[in-house]
Amino acid sequence: MKAGGGGALLEARGLEKSFGGLRAVNGVSLTVAPGTIKAIIGPNGAGKTTLLNLITRLDAPSAGEIWFDGVRIDRLPPHRIVQLGVARTFQNLRLFGDMSVLENVMVGRHVRTRTEMAGAVLRPAAARAEERAIFADALRLLHDVGLAEQAHEAAASLPFGKQRLLEIARALASEPRLLLLDEPAAGLNVREAAELGEFIRRIRLAGITIILVEHHMELVMEISDEILVLNFGEKLAEGPGEEIRTRPEVIQAYLGDEAAIAQDLRA
Ligand SMILES: Nc1ncnc2c1ncn2[C@@H]1O[C@H](COP(=O)(O)OP(=O)(O)OP(=O)(O)O)[C@@H](O)[C@H]1O
Ligand SMILES: [Mg+2]
Repeated sequence: MKAGGGGALLEARGLEKSFGGLRAVNGVSLTVAPGTIKAIIGPNGAGKTTLLNLITRLDAPSAGEIWFDGVRIDRLPPHRIVQLGVARTFQNLRLFGDMSVLENVMVGRHVRTRTEMAGAVLRPAAARAEERAIFADALRLLHDVGLAEQAHEAAASLPFGKQRLLEIARALASEPRLLLLDEPAAGLNVREAAELGEFIRRIRLAGITIILVEHHMELVMEISDEILVLNFGEKLAEGPGEEIRTRPEVIQAYLGDEAAIAQDLRA
């Protein structure tokens, strides 16, 4: 039977990832319906980033399967997964600081087109036309995130909140169908986090499905359709936000080292 059916855009089954004796991800299954926002929450070290690394194949799963739109992707190299339409941002920003804001977005597009390098040599006119299109698309994306005026500044010169937006713009430049965001609100002030929420909503309206890893509970509750709670690498709970935040086991998991988040869950 073809997996990834039943209308899911992404389906993972029985995912495991061990680092030495540590099971960072332990038997996690998840499905993400097209056009939805699925949040993944959990205490520090719960395995959230590792899960994103498995989906994008930056880490190889120790066991399990991942299907994207009916294609099994867990043995494909990362650039193939980008080409199929999966893009991500990183918890610790990975921008090219010395390059301009615009160039950083253009790099995001090239990640998708890089197998066409031979064509760029053999058909220079077509390659130039494509380059112009990439330039125009990148500028349009910068307009969307409110960074057009800074297009020619060095990425590293942007304030932190803007760098986070730039990373999202770069991920969008690869024209994903599924966008994975790893703590996009980390380090943002209240106003920036609210703007980010609006922006993520607009991305979803454009038809892009989103997996959002985030500690910022207000943002999570506001924009996600479903929440998956990870704890010690295992799925602790999954469902609509209103239901998740009242579950005793979820509140319990956050107590102790994550008292502040427990507070958010009850708010
Ligand atoms: N490359 C690695 N080698 C060894 N251990 C790792 C590696 N990557 C992650 N881990 C461990 O796996 C566990 C899960 O880490 P992960 O980064 O996925 O957690 P997280 O839920 O994203 O946490 P945070 O909220 O702090 O970002 C942690 O115990 C971490 O130390
Ligand atoms: Mg993480």
